[in-house]
Amino acid sequence: MAKYTVVTMPGDGIGNQVLPQALRVLEAVGFDAEYIHANIGWDCWCREGNALPQRTIDLLAKHRLGLFGAITSKPKKQAEAELGPELRGKGYSYFSPIVTMRQKFNLDTCIRPCISFPGNPLNFVRKNRDGGFEEPFVNVVVFRQNTEGLYAGVEWSNPPEKVRAALATHPKFKPFAGVAGTDLAVSVRIITRPAARKICKAAFEWADKHGYKSVTICEKPNVLRETSGMMEDEARAVSKGYPGIALWSTNIDAQTMWLTKNPEDYGVVVASNLFGDVISDAFAGLIGGLGFAASANIGDEVAVFEPTHGSAPKYAELDPPIVNPIAMLLSAVMMLEHIGEIEKGRLIRNAIAAVVKEGKVRTYDMMRLPGGPKALAAGAASTIEMTDAILAKLELAPQLALAGTQREFA
Ligand code: NAI
Ligand code: MG
Repeated sequence: MAKYTVVTMPGDGIGNQVLPQALRVLEAVGFDAEYIHANIGWDCWCREGNALPQRTIDLLAKHRLGLFGAITSKPKKQAEAELGPELRGKGYSYFSPIVTMRQKFNLDTCIRPCISFPGNPLNFVRKNRDGGFEEPFVNVVVFRQNTEGLYAGVEWSNPPEKVRAALATHPKFKPFAGVAGTDLAVSVRIITRPAARKICKAAFEWADKHGYKSVTICEKPNVLRETSGMMEDEARAVSKGYPGIALWSTNIDAQTMWLTKNPEDYGVVVASNLFGDVISDAFAGLIGGLGFAASANIGDEVAVFEPTHGSAPKYAELDPPIVNPIAMLLSAVMMLEHIGEIEKGRLIRNAIAAVVKEGKVRTYDMMRLPGGPKALAAGAASTIEMTDAILAKLELAPQLALAGTQREFA
């Protein structure tokens, strides 16, 4: 019997192209696992009225470890239009399966590392005063509260009378009181103190374990006084237990502006759900973008690892596939690190670093080519060729081992 069982959920579009590449690499490092395929995504919605079927939930509950590709989601009206005709009018409403999964299993800690690979032509460069350029080494890990905030799902168009009445008890609701229900949409931002404390604690723990000098709480407490205020209070309280780590506080809007000014100054960043989503994408843009952005969704029992990118439908049908598998491979590395298979994770990370540094094999995004079938003819590597190149470096791993091209992560 295999040591681990991993529930694999390729999902939609390019999720089906990148996830199998992760399995090739995991196999190559001798990861002893059985993989169980599970359905998720748009087809499930169209055919079953549920993008996250119960059988997938059951598999995750049982095996506790998931690798996820990407899903397609579409706006409300389109979702209704694409629902199977026999299911229409029966009260089905679309909700993102990945958001549902995070809430269902309380995967409340989302970790999104944004760490430069030396030699990546997509790395952020900064102009110097003398007209030259420098490439700051970005080494940021974003901790995003993953279950609450504006993504809690408590929202209405045309809110029920009871909700309007409750809102009307707040003096600031006065300007909206006369708005017709059909013209009114409300999404509630909910923060609970235990969840705020937990994500801040996780951020400081990571900083402590991995030698980061600062944790930045990235919110907007001057305006969102209650919710961001609570996040900031908790960050401050937690920071008292880590005297060696500085607590910095930035506002989300200003942080996105400062990002390109001094990205090398930041270490661990912690934020509520939407702000964490935003700021992790923003930092990911400095280290190569969606082809390099991996993430972990971690709960007390279940953990699911996924690239940050979506299903990129316009590339989903290309054969051979052209998208960059590295974000998916790095997500698999995060899975290995999470379960303590540190050495295997390190081998894969170093092989990726070696391929990026060498610069001979690059997917279209790394060459700044337009995506599409012509990308390969223009010299870009396919998804499979990129994985092949990484596998080839794995074979050389004993010699290469820990060449130190990328800072050790685990
Ligand atoms: P996307 O991430 O799917 O793609 C945006 C663009 O980024 C692509 O057109 C492509 O140019 C580039 N890109 C993405 N992944 C890449 C990779 N591995 N290598 C190279 N380039 C890559 O986001 P988009 O187009 O906004 O959304 C498409 C669908 O994906 C939507 O239905 C959206 O709802 C869904 N989505 C799902 C996510 C998830 O499953 N976690 C996250 C984001 C979007
Ligand atoms: Mg996002």
